[in-house]
Amino acid sequence: MSEKRLSLSPARFLSARRRHRSAGLVVLLFGLLAVGSAYAAFAPDNAVADNSAQSQQIEEGKKLFAVGCASCHGLNAEGGGTGEGKMAGPSLIGVGAAAVDFQVGTGRMPAQQPGAQMPRKPPVYTQAEIEALAAYVASLAPGPAVPAEEAYDVSKATDEQVTRGGELFRTNCTACHNFAGKGGALPNGRYAPSLMGVDPKHAYEAMLTGPQQMPVFSDQVLQPEDKRDVIAYLNALQEQKDPGGFGLGRLGPVSEGLWGWLVGIGALVCVAIWIGAKGVKAKGAKAE
Ligand code: HEC
Ligand code: HEC
Repeated sequence: MSEKRLSLSPARFLSARRRHRSAGLVVLLFGLLAVGSAYAAFAPDNAVADNSAQSQQIEEGKKLFAVGCASCHGLNAEGGGTGEGKMAGPSLIGVGAAAVDFQVGTGRMPAQQPGAQMPRKPPVYTQAEIEALAAYVASLAPGPAVPAEEAYDVSKATDEQVTRGGELFRTNCTACHNFAGKGGALPNGRYAPSLMGVDPKHAYEAMLTGPQQMPVFSDQVLQPEDKRDVIAYLNALQEQKDPGGFGLGRLGPVSEGLWGWLVGIGALVCVAIWIGAKGVKAKGAKAE
């Protein structure tokens, strides 16, 4: 090839190059055309195929939402609610799929009656329906997504991770949830629930979304591996048996104090009564 080119006179070489160039242009145009029409023919279909499952899920979630949630949260999740005598729910724009999965997955939503706090109850929706509701709410505005299973899988947690999780738990969570994760009362009739038996996914989502009085522990505050270690600790806490005797609810000094008070003072009262009774008997014996 290069030998051939070398044998060409400069003029012929140029024209040959020009011909080459225009041929290249034609090929390029044909190529573009082919790619363009191929794209027109196939790509949108592929995109539709990719998106249709998702948009179908969103559509499904929207329908479920209109029936089960809109009365309190508004037809477009804008908050407020339209139902008579119903509790107005907050706007759900931007709460993310994680908040929906947590609230509906723990049965807190749909709320059934007004109160300081929505209690946990058996979920009303199936997991597929919850996913549809979550997909719909997530489609309205970006928000925290449902974590991937690896994020909260603690089946292979090491002792070191559990210990680390315990430290993080004591720093961030015990103020409300108690040292043993058994929960505790908060002002105005509210409470931090017990964390025993909580699904690891819901625990992760609770940290991510901060329901009610609970702060949001964003990934900057508690990194994903911190969250996982906290869950590993909760898991270990749950499997740990009480060391012996009564657990006393492990509520700490308050219940221990109460127990001491009841049992201790109770015993003293019994002794006093017994002494009193003996005294009376003794007196009676003297009088005889
Ligand atoms: C009877 C009224 C009512 C119904 C029905 C209801 N909600 Fe709620 N929802 C509330 C109220 C009130 C709150 C705020 C409660 C709280 O802070 O504990 C709330 C809170 C939420 C939150 C938490 C928002 C946040 O900022 O983290 C989500 C998510 C949610 N609801 C989703 C739903 C979904 C999904 C449904 C339908 C399956 C639903 N709700 C049905 C009243 C309702
Ligand atoms: C300021 C108090 C407070 C702190 C601090 C706090 N929480 Fe909470 N937490 C709450 C309250 C209140 C709720 C109940 C919210 C509701 O019912 O809507 C809750 C709910 C939860 C739940 C859901 C339990 C269930 O029954 O579904 C989990 C899990 C949880 N918290 C874990 C944690 C962890 C882990 C930390 C520390 C990283 C933490 N919380 C820190 C107040 C707190």
